[in-house]
Amino acid sequence: MTSENIHSQKILILDFGSQYTQLIARRIREAGVYCEIWDYEVEAKYFDEFNPQGIVLSGGPESANTKTSPRAPSLVYRSGVPILGICYGMQTMAEEFGGKVEASNKSEFGFAKVDLVASNRLLDGLNDGLTDSGKSQFDVWMSHGDKVTNVPDGFQVIASTESAPIAAICDERRKFYGLQFHPEVTHTLQGKEIIGRFVHQVCGCDSLWTSANIIEDAITTIRKNVGADSVLLGLSGGVDSSVVAALLHRAIGDQLTCVFVDNGLLRLDEGDQVMASFSKDMGIRVIRADAEELFLSRLSGIDDPEEKRKIIGNTFIDVFDEEAGKLKNVKWLAQGTIYPDVIESAGSKTGKAHVIKSHHNVGGLPEDMKLDLVEPLRELFKDEVRKIGIELGLSKKMVFRHPFPGPGLGVRILGEVRKEYCEILRQADAIFMEELDQSNLYDKVSQAFAVFLPVKSVGVVGDARRHAYVISLRAVETIDFMTARWARLDPEILETISNRIMNEIPEVSRVAYDISSKPPATIEWE
Ligand code: XMP
Repeated sequence: MTSENIHSQKILILDFGSQYTQLIARRIREAGVYCEIWDYEVEAKYFDEFNPQGIVLSGGPESANTKTSPRAPSLVYRSGVPILGICYGMQTMAEEFGGKVEASNKSEFGFAKVDLVASNRLLDGLNDGLTDSGKSQFDVWMSHGDKVTNVPDGFQVIASTESAPIAAICDERRKFYGLQFHPEVTHTLQGKEIIGRFVHQVCGCDSLWTSANIIEDAITTIRKNVGADSVLLGLSGGVDSSVVAALLHRAIGDQLTCVFVDNGLLRLDEGDQVMASFSKDMGIRVIRADAEELFLSRLSGIDDPEEKRKIIGNTFIDVFDEEAGKLKNVKWLAQGTIYPDVIESAGSKTGKAHVIKSHHNVGGLPEDMKLDLVEPLRELFKDEVRKIGIELGLSKKMVFRHPFPGPGLGVRILGEVRKEYCEILRQADAIFMEELDQSNLYDKVSQAFAVFLPVKSVGVVGDARRHAYVISLRAVETIDFMTARWARLDPEILETISNRIMNEIPEVSRVAYDISSKPPATIEWE
């Protein structure tokens, strides 16, 4: 399998700013087809170069019936490539071909039942039930204000709801399809099938985008680019850098050197675990820089959260640079940049993701090193990174571990960071994780951790009074970490955790549970 093959069949998603655009891409990838998200104002030369087998027009917040509404250039419609327009994407396509879009007097948000009213390649044979008259019916997710009120030339209505009689349209001759509902969200029960139909049956793509092929393709590309040069990687133990390490090691073996900076702000035994799994088990060359003292001395007396973050970030760069400077002949710096970072840094609404290069996110490397970047996860979503991590032999525990912030325990100890506090927090956090694991709750929450509060509270242990610190437990459920709801953990389990923490850690006299959602609170306490 060459790198050309895995990318040879692909779908282009033109983004009109929908909150669901990345979901469309993930569903297409899950169907085994490569796709990219580009700004809707695609230029002819990039379009021709990309040469997609199909196009998806995303939803978006604008109204398609104004003069200034965003429109895909006409080359998209003239290209002869099949098109699936979703929500705003359907409306703008309808306008393009002389249809009419009007503001609805009743917005539709949420579940709806859509009836199939004409046979077509996209929906035939699928349903979630039948109407009284025996028509196929779909349970779908709607989220729109405007709707198509006049069918464009050459199109026919293929599905209807009571409030949106034109809920789906198609022109089978040109292979143009429009859906008012959102097949990319899981609430649309047949959504996965519909997207699969579009990319496979309508666009004729095969399922080349699989974990095994992605790995093989990445290995070929890495070997081709890197040749016999040496590569440096900052290994944090997080999912992305771990998968990069495993992938590079498989591709170039000993040409890879990892630097793991132990900043003293890691979780219990984390440094040893990283060394055990990468160095001992996998035979990867990992240099461990024990920099606890340096970090803690620079953090001494500092209690402002932003200042703490800055110090931790800068100290990381200093330590990493020093270790990197000792290595000879390094030509490449590997990074765990993933596709959402690429889309974000290019600004998928205004920029052109495919022409903007990423910047070093490990800044300040010694000038004379002049490293080129190798970013083997640049095309992948987090779920794809996890899948290839498992395929590369990383443990489930590592691949599905909750996110851990770069500044580590530094932002989970309120105010000044001291070694004593780190040690107490590490123990409390480990108890919390152990109990979540045991009750099979670890994977059910998105992120959970303990926080150290440097205030003393009174308690009684046996007959003695205890004046000691407070630990707060935090567990949240979230999809995107932009908003989060505090997890409703079983009070029995919370009781076990709190008792264990107070019994096993004499420096703690009280355990609290954080019931703040985001917003207005943030997930981390600092
Ligand atoms: P907040 O606290 O902003 O956290 O609601 C959202 C997500 O980001 C993580 N986080 C960080 N990650 N460096 C990081 O690498 C940071 O400084 C940082 N602050 C927060 C946090 O753990 C959560 O997953």
